[in-house]
Amino acid sequence: MSKKIILGVFEMMNPSNGMPTWTHPDGRGDDWDRLDYWAGLARELDQAGFDFLFFADTYGYATLGGRMPAEVAAHGIQFPALDPMLAIAALARETRNLGFVVTSPTTVERPYATARRFASLDRFTDGRIGWNVVTGSSQATTDELFGITAKLGHDERYDAADEFLDTCLRFWEHSWEDDAEVRDRAQGMYADPERLHPVSVDGRHQRAHGVFAVPPTPQRTPVLFQAGTSDRGRAYAARNAEAVFIQGQTIPTAAAHVRDIREQAARHGRDPHDVKVVTGMTVTVAATEAEARALREEYEAVLGLDDAAVMFAGITGIDLTGIDPDTRVTDLRTEAGQTLINRYARTDPDIRVRAVLDQFRTKAIRGFQLTGTPEQVADEIEAIIDGTGIDGIMLEPTFGGPAAYRSFIDLVLPVLRERDRVASAAGTPTTLRERFGGAARLAPTHPAHRLTASALPTPAEPSTTAASPAQTPQVLTVRAGGDDLRERENA
Ligand SMILES: Cc1cc2nc3c(=O)[nH]c(=O)nc-3n(C[C@H](O)[C@H](O)[C@H](O)COP(=O)(O)O)c2cc1C
Repeated sequence: MSKKIILGVFEMMNPSNGMPTWTHPDGRGDDWDRLDYWAGLARELDQAGFDFLFFADTYGYATLGGRMPAEVAAHGIQFPALDPMLAIAALARETRNLGFVVTSPTTVERPYATARRFASLDRFTDGRIGWNVVTGSSQATTDELFGITAKLGHDERYDAADEFLDTCLRFWEHSWEDDAEVRDRAQGMYADPERLHPVSVDGRHQRAHGVFAVPPTPQRTPVLFQAGTSDRGRAYAARNAEAVFIQGQTIPTAAAHVRDIREQAARHGRDPHDVKVVTGMTVTVAATEAEARALREEYEAVLGLDDAAVMFAGITGIDLTGIDPDTRVTDLRTEAGQTLINRYARTDPDIRVRAVLDQFRTKAIRGFQLTGTPEQVADEIEAIIDGTGIDGIMLEPTFGGPAAYRSFIDLVLPVLRERDRVASAAGTPTTLRERFGGAARLAPTHPAHRLTASALPTPAEPSTTAASPAQTPQVLTVRAGGDDLRERENA
């Protein structure tokens, strides 16, 4: 039996998604900030049998030399934007099966608040929530907006993100025992204090002490996604992620990437197939190849070189327009996002800045771009899935509005269903983790299970100067034995 393809959609809560297209009649310039628009889209995807709707998100915006270039506001380059997390509970009520994945950065948020928000969403969505854990693009503007002065380097941001996630995992997985929420009316006991455990973290980057406020939810931990493909980003994914977003470009490079992540996951003692890989994909489909090509040309004509340079700078911190166009991309260095640079450099080590800018204009941050008839597109999707080990695709809109999704649903999905490559649309409601092939809770080999509530070292002997019972309520009895996962792994 052939592998069923996970189906998602890649969205952002801004006027155009990626490059500016909001002025086009098939765009969403007047709709993007209406909750009804997103509710309608979520319903359509749910009814068509999609597994998840992903909202990428960032607090920042693109800057050049520390300032917002005029194009960002004038052309609406991923700006303005709303906070998609606040829409998720409403969208969940409109849908039965669809999962929701939302980005939240580890750089400016705090672990406790993040853990509580996602646990609340896991409750409100009946276990259909996922978290895209990022160290964040547009870091420079985000730091300014939040008044953050302590700057971490690229890899150090990921070290801090490991500690951030571990702290969240301690809250989600280890603060409440499974049967701690008793709701016993006869005894007047809501939760059993003996079965609650305070989290204690005194790390290099994170500190947190106390009991989690949210009882265990259907998934406990949201499905953990990761999306940066730098070397350190892949290592982070292999250790932590249950699903990895990539922007696949060619079958060989994507296959190598998938292999690398799974090999690294195995070295962390995980089942490599507990890490699903999902690639971005833009599909332009029509009844005939000529119509599909014309539609793709119409889309590409909307995109401008200056806007591309601004967006590239926003992600990488590098202004390509200020560099000799003959510069080799392999000579560029950044402490901001490295995924984009690597994408070009790994595909063609000799590629120059001029060519990158030109390709980026039409490609932007998209993954595979497929154009053709329904059969051609379905053939290509099957070739990508079977040739790379990728588990799923997430569609990127072209003009921004729902037209691109609708043509995929009407033209391509029936072909993939006929070939038994996608699940039936009328599935029974499950958690997002189960839709991705697991159980409702984190897989047994996930490193979260090697953590405990407390990251503090186990005391060698019981203290002879213990605080009196009055000062030490039962709930503050730290469950001993917790050590820091990283220390164990490095040992
Ligand atoms: C498919 C995909 C989706 C992403 N979504 C986001 C996002 O929503 N927010 C964000 O700040 N960064 C996003 N990123 C960027 C990264 O996750 C990452 O934090 C950034 O690129 C820096 O890390 P890197 O050097 O490993 O790329 C995304 C990247 C990819 C490939």
